[in-house]
Amino acid sequence: ETVEWDPEQAGKGEYDHFMLKEINEQPTAIAQAIEGRIDPARGAIDLDGFEPGAFEDIDEVQFVACGTSYHAALYGATALNRIGISATAMLANEYSVAAPPIDDGTLVVAVTQSGETADTLNALRSAAAAGAETLTLTNVIGSTASRIADKTLLIRAGPEIGVAATKTFSSQALMLVLLSRRIAADRSGERSGDRRSLLEAVESMPESIERVLDRSGAAAVARRYGDSQSYFFIGRGFGYAVSLEGALKFKEITYEHAEGFASGELKHGPLALVTPETPIFAVFTGTEDEKTLKNAEEAQTRGAPVIALCPPGHEATEIADEHLEIPETDATLAGLLANVQLQLVSYYAATQLDRSIDKPRNLAKSVTVE
Ligand code: G6P
Repeated sequence: ETVEWDPEQAGKGEYDHFMLKEINEQPTAIAQAIEGRIDPARGAIDLDGFEPGAFEDIDEVQFVACGTSYHAALYGATALNRIGISATAMLANEYSVAAPPIDDGTLVVAVTQSGETADTLNALRSAAAAGAETLTLTNVIGSTASRIADKTLLIRAGPEIGVAATKTFSSQALMLVLLSRRIAADRSGERSGDRRSLLEAVESMPESIERVLDRSGAAAVARRYGDSQSYFFIGRGFGYAVSLEGALKFKEITYEHAEGFASGELKHGPLALVTPETPIFAVFTGTEDEKTLKNAEEAQTRGAPVIALCPPGHEATEIADEHLEIPETDATLAGLLANVQLQLVSYYAATQLDRSIDKPRNLAKSVTVE
């Protein structure tokens, strides 16, 4: 007698899709990423393989990445610029056309889950050839990226099967926040006490994500707006990176039209697209929220439903049509919690449309051609 046994189904455990499983693995993934790497009491960030002072000569960081990893890179560049360290995030496939100049003190960081994306590897190779110090932030030990780069920092997210990246984005963005503060520490422009509250918030991230997962509200929002024409995502700063990622996730797995915009840009063009058929997901991360709120209201005046991603009691909840709650946290990390909500919205919207969630049409987990 044989028992029907589908290894793929077994791998998913209690979940219908790897994507949902991986979304739910985020508290664990983050706990693994930070394990042994932070000490809030001392304000210390200990990145394995990087001696204290390893980054003291870094004046500028250039990120190269594609897809979701590019959005994590944008998150990291925002973190660095906000603490006074020059950083740019470039799409790796654009880097070969017009790479920014490399100086002594330029660190090029390739952000790549797989470590095998051809575009990203090319950018990394050309940066190395131009004399830059290179680092890769990856999920795969021994990947090609880690063999090319001078140094490797692992996100330790564990295997990700779903083509749409979820837990690896959270781990990448979180690690880049830590890297930014470590660079600041090594350049000694920052006192350890200044890092304490952030590191405490980092330590509570698994719990904060768990709270989002436990009572998300995303399924109801996906049901209510599931037959709209287009889906727009807006935010500023970290919220901008999250808006781009929210829209990418949405288009990848629902095949519906979705776009992310910097909230301030809405009035410079995209507002022409706004109708009652274009729900606006507005991401509030505690940075210039009043401006984002005005931008969202401008869309609402044109009939668009506004779904606010913000903590309870936030002023946005007073005007928004829907509220997807995120727990209070450090402004540097709030975007990550909003992103978990948006992952769930995409997932439930795609489920309703009966899409091939783990293997969207035309897409591959790792793209090894240019
Ligand atoms: C592909 C995947 C995306 C991913 C991108 C970069 O396009 O479908 O989900 O974000 O590659 O992958 P990487 O492994 O470099 O992070």
